[in-house]
Amino acid sequence: MTDGVIPLLDLRQSGRALTVPQPLPPARPGPWLDARGRPLRDLRISVTDRCNFRCSYCMPKDVFDKHYPFLPRNEVLSLEEIARVARIFAGLGVQKLRLTGGEPLLRRNLESLIAQLSEIRTPEGLLLDLTLTTNGSLLARKAQALKDAGLQRITVSLDALDDAIFRRMNDVDFPVADVLEGIARAQAVGLAPVKVNMVVKRGTNDDQILPMARHFRGTGVTLRFIEYMDVGMSNGWRMDEVLPSSEVLARLREDADLIPLAPTAEGETATRWGYADGSGEIGLISSVTQAFCGDCNRARLSTEGQLYTCLFAGAGHDLRGLLRGDALGEPRTDDEIAAALGTMWTRRGDRYSELRASMPAAEAGSARRVEMHYIGG
Ligand code: GTP
Ligand code: 5AD
Ligand code: SF4
Ligand code: SF4
Repeated sequence: MTDGVIPLLDLRQSGRALTVPQPLPPARPGPWLDARGRPLRDLRISVTDRCNFRCSYCMPKDVFDKHYPFLPRNEVLSLEEIARVARIFAGLGVQKLRLTGGEPLLRRNLESLIAQLSEIRTPEGLLLDLTLTTNGSLLARKAQALKDAGLQRITVSLDALDDAIFRRMNDVDFPVADVLEGIARAQAVGLAPVKVNMVVKRGTNDDQILPMARHFRGTGVTLRFIEYMDVGMSNGWRMDEVLPSSEVLARLREDADLIPLAPTAEGETATRWGYADGSGEIGLISSVTQAFCGDCNRARLSTEGQLYTCLFAGAGHDLRGLLRGDALGEPRTDDEIAAALGTMWTRRGDRYSELRASMPAAEAGSARRVEMHYIGG
């Protein structure tokens, strides 16, 4: 393990109970706003805590080895439970669903979940934005089935074009050609727009910024550069490995004319830049150097049904307890669960990335944070 790595703390069982308000409040018109005035719009659902890659910034091999206690099946939400939760959230104002993992394509019968999710409508009768983040390893094989099930678009994580660098970063010797084939298949079946997320680590893959940009320019794929973040407790994050987006942009601009583009949605993670000649766009996700908590409208559902109101939260809220009854007594109705979730959201004050910017490094490093492979990106 690298110097300075904090031993893994298993935060999975530390969920807080979600309480159903009594008496139930009348159904509220309009969106629920949190304590900082932010609506709830985006639900990110982790469908498995497993992954076939071992990216060092997410699931380093020495921690996530064959002894790692991945969740047993009875702890994991069923596809029906997930679909039920998504329906309840749509009633609360959620407009976008993103399936994540771990690696979501490892979840058995994922297509049947997608089919159920694609049936959901907002209270106004509109379709939800339904998408998925994958490492692309199984995508060539599954793209058509995902599209047929009702998935609208897809985001593929890819950190390098150079095969040796990519194999080293995924740490399971997976070849880049197979991911590129997955991306091509996704485009061919119409999972559009395809986005590619590249986590940039200074000294590891920053020499891949230009090759990646040149490769995807003019293909219809939107490439997004992500600042390496201090998520979880096991990746040994260091500020000097973060390459600020401003520097990524400067390097790109030496190669091409880029002009700023307006955001497409409120609360968007990426700032967008377009090639002046119309050959596409790139995105910069600057979670470390320019926090975007101010309009963060995202909630995250972990594989076993804990709800997190921030990517950096130290604990979740035990939604599964309300679904199953578990130790809490009777399983709850949709209205009761909606009321509990609404109340929880109104109390939300999270803004970790903003606060981190003003925290001494040691303090930021010691805060309890959940692992990303378990609540998804
Ligand atoms: P689009 O709807 O396609 O724009 O997707 P998105 O940007 O909302 O989602 P995506 O999963 O592609 O996010 C890209 C990356 O941004 C993630 O992998 C994270 O690294 C980072 N990210 C996403 N959401 C958050 C967030 O709420 N907080 C922070 N700090 N980082 C986030
Ligand atoms: N910093 C930034 N992004 C990360 N991801 C995983 N770990 C990190 C991290 N430490 C991204 C992956 C993928 C998504 C699921 O989250 O690259 O795009
Ligand atoms: Fe797997 Fe994605 Fe984490 Fe890499 S970043 S280990 S592909 S979940
Ligand atoms: Fe949202 Fe937390 Fe990310 Fe800020 S750090 S943008 S509050 S998830």
